Amino acid sequence: MSHTDEVTLHDLHPAADSIREDVLEGLSARPKHLPPKYFYDARGASLFERITTLDEYYPTRTELDILDTHADEMADAIGPDVHLIEFGSGSGLKTRLLLRALHSPSAYSPVDISRRQLVDFAADIARECPDLQVLPVCADYTSEMSLPEPDARPARRVAFFPGSSIGNFRPPHATAFLRRVRNLCGSAGALLIGVDLDKDPAILERAYNDDDGVTAAFNLNMLIRLNRDVGTDFDTAAFRHEAFYDAERQRIEMRLLCTQASRVTIPDPAGESPEIFELDIGDHITTEYSYKYSRSGFQEMAQKAGWKSARFWTDARSWFGIWLLEAG
Ligand code: AVJ
Repeated sequence: MSHTDEVTLHDLHPAADSIREDVLEGLSARPKHLPPKYFYDARGASLFERITTLDEYYPTRTELDILDTHADEMADAIGPDVHLIEFGSGSGLKTRLLLRALHSPSAYSPVDISRRQLVDFAADIARECPDLQVLPVCADYTSEMSLPEPDARPARRVAFFPGSSIGNFRPPHATAFLRRVRNLCGSAGALLIGVDLDKDPAILERAYNDDDGVTAAFNLNMLIRLNRDVGTDFDTAAFRHEAFYDAERQRIEMRLLCTQASRVTIPDPAGESPEIFELDIGDHITTEYSYKYSRSGFQEMAQKAGWKSARFWTDARSWFGIWLLEAG
């Protein structure tokens, strides 16, 4: 069967981001924070692409290398005729590596909140893989969702979550997410997931403090983006990028550190009373956590969420791990 014609979108109509409310809530909190999902406007997405190619930022190339080296073993362990479901569609490099290795996958569902990007990506994959039914799902993958049924009944559902995106969730939310994926995939399901591993803090800190300042630009772009899309008036010159490893909590924390007393206004959409926030020298806004896991720590969390660890692949330095988790 050929599926080249048109891909049908399974649209769960995710609620539009309430970006102003999120900013208001985050700036009112102590310590102040802003959600990392707002990094990714067009400039943010392209800065992130640059980050993935930096010498200091090892995760992307390490994971690609593991996938490339073990794709056939992964495909054998996953088995034939699966419905592959991917959360967040990224650049597609990892998707293509996996799809090329899988044995006659029956369908592929990228799940993404941004409809335009999703439809374009799905159309590209459908064009490249004429025998694959591509069934994109527009949804917020952090909430409950349903999946479309492929024409050919698949052997099982297998989820794919690369990039250590799980690292952005605090552990209780990460566990809850893994449990939802377990329920979505069913009792025969599996999950192939990439996770950045705990390591020497110096290596971790270098990965988030590159010499060219690309990560700093990525972090500061949050403010530029909010100034444009929310109408805030952040003085970007008053903030400095900061990233450090909190070994006790096993996470990189990225912040925007206030280096000059400054004031930020969030305009009122009705044009009435704006919200004003004062920041002093030394105050900071947390913009991202990136959790790092030990091999046993991640497995314990996966087990709590109803998964069994079936296979584990890593690189020569054990810097990054890819797990195949099985529901049954
Ligand atoms: C896309 C969330 C996995 O945490 O390493 C890279 C994002 N932030 N450099 C990460 C990021 C700063 C990245 N994740």
